Amino acid sequence: MSFDLVFFGGTGDLTWRKLMPALFQAFRHGKLPEGGRILAVARDDQSDERYREWLKERFREVEAGKRPSDEEFERFAALVHYRRMDLSQPEHYQGLKDWLDARNADTVVLYLATSPHLFTGICQQLGAVGLNHAKVRVVLEKPLGHDLASAQQINRAVRSVFAEAQAFRIDHYLGKPSVQNLMALRFGNALFEPLWRRESIANIQITLAEQLGVGTRGAFYDDTGALRDMIQNHALQLLTMIAMEPPASNDADAIRDEKLKVLRALKPFTQESVARDVVRGQYRAGMCGGHPVPGYLEEVKVPQDSTCETFVALRTEVQNWRWAGVPFYLRTGKRLAARDAQIVVNFRPVPHQIFPGASLPNRLVIKLQPEDGLELQLLAHKGTGPGEQLTPVSLDLDFDKAFATQRVGAYERLLLDAIAGRLNLFVRSDEQEQAWRWVEPILDAWAEDGNGPRPYAAGSWGPAAASALVARDGFAWAEEQ
Ligand code: BG6
Repeated sequence: MSFDLVFFGGTGDLTWRKLMPALFQAFRHGKLPEGGRILAVARDDQSDERYREWLKERFREVEAGKRPSDEEFERFAALVHYRRMDLSQPEHYQGLKDWLDARNADTVVLYLATSPHLFTGICQQLGAVGLNHAKVRVVLEKPLGHDLASAQQINRAVRSVFAEAQAFRIDHYLGKPSVQNLMALRFGNALFEPLWRRESIANIQITLAEQLGVGTRGAFYDDTGALRDMIQNHALQLLTMIAMEPPASNDADAIRDEKLKVLRALKPFTQESVARDVVRGQYRAGMCGGHPVPGYLEEVKVPQDSTCETFVALRTEVQNWRWAGVPFYLRTGKRLAARDAQIVVNFRPVPHQIFPGASLPNRLVIKLQPEDGLELQLLAHKGTGPGEQLTPVSLDLDFDKAFATQRVGAYERLLLDAIAGRLNLFVRSDEQEQAWRWVEPILDAWAEDGNGPRPYAAGSWGPAAASALVARDGFAWAEEQ
C-alpha cells in the first residue's frame, strides 16, 4: 500500500520532537508500509536536502535510544521531502495537489500539526482544490478548540470538507500501550468485569501528574490551563474507558458510541458544585526532582498576575446503573511530586471481618507511566503464627518487561493507524464536543470566582484542599493511604 503523509507545520516542534521520531521508529521496526513518502510543508524556502540536514540535527535532541545512526538516517531521509507553502495562498494548495496527484498514492494522510486557529482555513483550502477525495484522511492535533463554541466551529469546518470517517482527532493518550491494555483488561478477560460496578468498587482515582513545569510554553499554557490541557481530553478519555459498557465489537464506532454514553452520563457541574467539588491550584517555587524550581508566575512569558491553573482535582459521578454513587476523582498538575500517570480502582472492604486488625480493601492500580503495568493489592498471611494481622501484598505485572521487544510508542501507533485508516484510537467529534459541554460550567464558575487558584509548592501533591476533597467521602489519594 503506497501512502503520502503530509505534515503541515513541518518545521514545528511537534513535527521534529514527536512525529518524525515516531515515524523513524516505525521505519526501524519495519512497520511503515512500503511505498511511503513523508512530506513536510512550511513557510521557509528550502530544498529537500536542506530540510533533511535540519532534521538530522534535530534528531540529536531526541532521546538516545530513539536516535538513528547515520546509516539509518540516510535510509529514512530518502522518504522525506520538503515543500514550501504559504497556507494563506490558494495556489500553494493546488501545487500540493499536483505534487500528490503525480504519484496517486493509495492513501494520502494530511496531518495538521499547526496552531488550531489555522485548521478552518486549511480545511477550506484543501476542499477548494479537491484534496478531500476518498483516499484522503485528515489528522487534527490537539488543542481542538478552546471551548465548546470554538470546537464546534472547527468540527463544522472539517465536516463541510471531510466525512467523519476521514477525520482522525488525536488524543495521544489513546495511543499509549497501557491505555490499550485497559481495554484488554476489561474486555479480553472475564476476571474483573463482574466486579466492575458500584456493588464492588468504592471509588476510582485517575492521576496524571507531571514533574515538569510549563517550560518554554508559558504563552500557550497561560491561555489554556490544566483543565483544558489535560482534563477535557486525556483524563476524560481515560474515564470513559474505565466506565464504558462493553462494546458489541472492536469497531471504532461501537467503542466510540459507548464512550459517548459515559460522557453524557457524567454529573453536570453547577456553580455550587464547582465550588465544592473542583480544586484549582498554581505552583509556587519549590524543590522538584531534587532541584530548586521557580514558581509559575516567574516562568517565561507568564503574566505576573496570572490566574491560570496548573493543577486541577475534581470529584464527579457517572450517573447510570453501573456507577450510581461511586465517586470518580480526577487529578492533574505540573510540578508535582512525581511523574506518575495511573488509575487506581479501590474496591469495597470485605462485608464482615474475621481476621484481627484493620482490613485494607483490595486495590487495582493501572500504571500508565513511567512504568506500564498492573498491580493488584491483596491481603495475605505471612505465616508467622496465630493472631497475625493480614499484610498487604501485590501481584505486580510489568508490561515493559513482559513484552519488551514488541512495544510501540503512542505517536508511532497513532500514525500507523492513521495510515491504515483505523479509527479506534481517535476521538469522534461528538465525544469531543460532549467533553467540552461538561467542562464549560467549570470554566464559567472560575471566571465568576475572584479567589483564583490555590497556591501549592512545586514538588508537592498540590493544594491541601485536593486531599480534603477526597477525605470528605472517607477516602484518600493513593499516595496518602
Ligand atoms: C499534552 C499537554 O497534551 O500532554 C502537555 O499539552 C503535557 O502539557 C503532555 O505535558 C503530557 O503527555 P505525556 O505523554 O508526557 O504524559
